[in-house]
Amino acid sequence: PKVAVLLGGPSAEREVSLSSGQECAAALRGEGYQVTEVDAGPDLAQRLTALAPDVVFNALHGRWGEDGCVQGLLEWLRLPYTHSGVLASALAMDKERSKNAYRAAGLPVVDSLLADKSEIEAAHLMAPPYVVKPYNEGSSVGVYLVQQGANAPPRLAAEMPDTLMVETYAPGRELTTTVMGDRALTVTDILTDGWYDYDAKYKAGGSRHVIPAQIPQAIFDACLDHALQAHEVLGCRGLSRTDFRWDESRGLDGLILLETNTQPGMTPTSLAPEQAAHCGVSFGQLCRWMVEDASC
Ligand code: DAL
Ligand code: MG
Repeated sequence: PKVAVLLGGPSAEREVSLSSGQECAAALRGEGYQVTEVDAGPDLAQRLTALAPDVVFNALHGRWGEDGCVQGLLEWLRLPYTHSGVLASALAMDKERSKNAYRAAGLPVVDSLLADKSEIEAAHLMAPPYVVKPYNEGSSVGVYLVQQGANAPPRLAAEMPDTLMVETYAPGRELTTTVMGDRALTVTDILTDGWYDYDAKYKAGGSRHVIPAQIPQAIFDACLDHALQAHEVLGCRGLSRTDFRWDESRGLDGLILLETNTQPGMTPTSLAPEQAAHCGVSFGQLCRWMVEDASC
C-alpha cells in the first residue's frame, strides 16, 4: 500500500512535526509500505490528488494539522487518514472548549478564561500563580507562568495571538497516558529540572521519563481511566495522549487533567511511542497499527 506522510506544515510546531514525520516514514518503509513524505503547504490538495495514496499518515502538529483543518481536507478528498477526525481534533485543540467537555464528564480540570492580550497585560485576571498561553498551540510554545506573589501582570511578546487563555497554575508532577484505540497504555512520570518546556521536551536528556510511573495505584488507575474517558468524550480515534499534573500533597484531589493531544509527538524523545514500546508494541508496529486503523 501507498502511504503519504504529512509533515512540517506552517504551525509553531513545524520542527517537531518534521521530526515526527521522518521517524514515522522511516518506520513505515521498514514495515514494507511505499512511503512519500509530503511537507504540508498550500498545494496540499493538488499534491495528494496527484499521489493518490491509499492512506494518509498525519504527522502534523499544532494549528491547521491538529485542529480539524487538514482532517476536513482529507475528508473532502475521501482519503483515509490516521488519528482523530474533524470534530475531535477541533475540540481537543481548543483548550478552553475541550475543558467544558471534560467538566461535563466529571473529569478534573482547573479554572480558566479567555481574554485579550491588552486585558491580560493591564491587570491580574486571577490570583497568581497562573499561566497564560495560546489556547490552540502545543509543545509549550508561548507559555507564561505568573509566579505566586508577582506584582505585575505579564508582558506578552508581540507575536503572541490577540486572544489567550489564562489558567490557574496546577502544581505538581507531570504525568501522561497514551490511548491506543480503546486501551490506555500506562503512566509516565516526567522529571525535569525546571519547567517541562520546549527544550525539555525535545532536547536529548532534557527530561527523564519514569515508566511505569512510581506513584500510588489509585493515581495510576485514575490516569488510565481519565485518559480513556477524555479520548471518548472528545470522540478521538486511533492514538491520543492525555497530560496531567499531580500535586501529591493533595492525594487523588491533586490530580488535574491538563489536555488531550490528538496528534501526540512521535519524535525520538516523545512519550507515546515510549509507552507503546513499554507495552510490547515497537515503533514500527505502532505506525503499522495506525495505518491499518485509518479511516475517513
Ligand atoms: N504537541 C506535541 C507534539 C505533543 O503533544 O506531543
Ligand atoms: Mg499539547
